[in-house]
Amino acid sequence: MRIDVLTLFPAMLDGFLSESMLGRAREADRLRICVHNLRDWTTDKHKTTDDRPFGGGAGMVMKCEPVFAAIEQLQTSGCRRIYLTPDGEPFSCALAKELSQQQHLILLSGHYEGIDQRIRDAIIDQEISIGDYVLTNGTLAAAVVIDALARFIPGVLGDEKSLTSESFTRNLLDFPQYTRPAVFRGLSVPEVLLTGHHGEIEKWRHARQLEKTDKVRPDLLKKTP
Ligand code: ADE
Repeated sequence: MRIDVLTLFPAMLDGFLSESMLGRAREADRLRICVHNLRDWTTDKHKTTDDRPFGGGAGMVMKCEPVFAAIEQLQTSGCRRIYLTPDGEPFSCALAKELSQQQHLILLSGHYEGIDQRIRDAIIDQEISIGDYVLTNGTLAAAVVIDALARFIPGVLGDEKSLTSESFTRNLLDFPQYTRPAVFRGLSVPEVLLTGHHGEIEKWRHARQLEKTDKVRPDLLKKTP
């Protein structure tokens, strides 16, 4: 899979892309990620990427020319061109999984007060928000999308089993985990986990998942048949 990221702040992704699972996935060539500076597609001396909004108002708007030029150069047939924006569709586990099955993504990170609507109308296929808050630019949102989808690419996670049991896969939050020692500062691990009785352990874990989801995210339980 190939991902091209278009941003005005490519250095924001340096550490993120080379560390941990993503770093290893890139080294193993399971994932090709190229980060591009949008200014490389400007043609004026000042490398201008923004301008004042028509109709007035505060802030600046990202210009059409460099974005069109960049996307037209990078796109391949069938690739998905995504704009990260707080007014996009909510990002989710299901969307991460769907994106992980694409061959090629272009992630456009916005900045300033927004981008010229003609970009969104003409060369963007999907708009995604990572949550109901506004970041200073979409680069971190692009990182979140990459991180979440990479986990669905075969071979990126050490243990594929963790994908099916974890939070959100079945609209339930995770059960609590414990490791050795069995007693730490007088705090004991729940007895059932030490019994080796898999059926009982499964039942206990499912009950804890329901309890936690009901307390913290009752909206998820409503989605579960
Ligand atoms: N850019 C700024 N805020 C954002 C958000 N919440 N999601 C996606 N892109 C963004």
